[in-house]
Amino acid sequence: MSTQKMHIDVYERNWLIFSAILLVLFATAVSVAAFGMGIQVPAPEQRVDPRTVATDPSSPWSNPGLREIAPGKYDAYILAHAIPNWEYLPKELTVPAGSVVTFYVTSSDVQHGFKIQNTNANFMVIPGQVSKLTIHFDKPGTYNYICTEYCGSGHGVMYGAITVTP
Ligand code: CUA
Repeated sequence: MSTQKMHIDVYERNWLIFSAILLVLFATAVSVAAFGMGIQVPAPEQRVDPRTVATDPSSPWSNPGLREIAPGKYDAYILAHAIPNWEYLPKELTVPAGSVVTFYVTSSDVQHGFKIQNTNANFMVIPGQVSKLTIHFDKPGTYNYICTEYCGSGHGVMYGAITVTP
């Protein structure tokens, strides 16, 4: 039995070692972030059928709007659609200052966006999926929500408003 030693250029060998070390470093960083610090990528909140989400009586988006689930805590079901006209349903929400509102937003047709001005809420609204985010409204005022994904000729008029009362 004869043994043969494979010849690897010294630079190639060093780069192989360096790449292997990088892989271990990245895997460690991702593991520490995910399991040590609890940082997770956003996962789909819920899947819905965009063809029936606005009409099925068992779907909360067949009757979109605010639900008070506890004193000062609300769920807001918002439907975005381009057909028959570009709008959010409902177009207006009113909550008292200090409210905590969890938004559940979906689309019954094409992809839209949902950005609430003067907050850090800004996400895509994808037909078939539900986007969820919780916002604290401490300061009274008007917070417009606008569509941030081009969705057709009426994209520019697609907006609504949250009124936070004192
Ligand atoms: Cu909806 Cu742009």
